[in-house]
Amino acid sequence: MASYLQIPDDEKGHDLELFCVPRHYESDLDKVIIPHGLIMDRTERLARDIIRDMGGHHIVALCVLKGGYKFFADLLDYIKVLNHNSDKSVPLTVDFIRVKSYCNDKSTNSVRVIGGDELSNLSGKNVLIVEDIVETGRTMQTLLSLLSECNPKMVKVVSLLVKRTPRSSGYRPDYIGFEVPDAFLVGYALDYNEYFRDLCHICILNDQAKEKYKV
Ligand code: IMP
Ligand code: MG
Repeated sequence: MASYLQIPDDEKGHDLELFCVPRHYESDLDKVIIPHGLIMDRTERLARDIIRDMGGHHIVALCVLKGGYKFFADLLDYIKVLNHNSDKSVPLTVDFIRVKSYCNDKSTNSVRVIGGDELSNLSGKNVLIVEDIVETGRTMQTLLSLLSECNPKMVKVVSLLVKRTPRSSGYRPDYIGFEVPDAFLVGYALDYNEYFRDLCHICILNDQAKEKYKV
């Protein structure tokens, strides 16, 4: 079982006034739930755990766009530091896939792959899928079944966040940064209809903002 940092349901979070939040989002957010520094510290440790388990061979890191791009970039930077500074190192290459399953704050039943690299390139490779958040688990299960058709040698999944929700299918990634309450989270590349990717802390969106940015 993957270990993770648990953010409890009654987490009060931190006052926005204590951190730097873009002015254009100040009225849309209630609290900072995971400050950027804590995301980085936990990501550094995930990099170490991943290299411990997968570090014998070439790794293809597959970024699930768009939400995964910040976590992907920071995780790979930490893996690069480990590669620079230890006797053993592994080549790391990157691939990208774009999937879409959300409209407003609801998961739709369809998970669509809408672009990215050819998954067939991953045949015979050790693949690390890098995702921002697992909620129902449908996106990841769909992606894993598509990937299995291409016969990779090994597949591991790291997700920065996993939501505690009754809507979960029970799917759990191999590596988890934080387990979070059942709320809609934004920031650090997690979006609400494409907004809030340009916010570096992970925050809870308020109801007014859900209306304001609704499509
Ligand atoms: P799942 O298929 O229900 O597991 O949902 C996973 C995808 O939905 C993630 O890759 C996100 O893109 C999106 N998602 C789920 N919960 C949130 C959230 O709280 N904020 C932003 N995006 C979310
Ligand atoms: Mg995602």
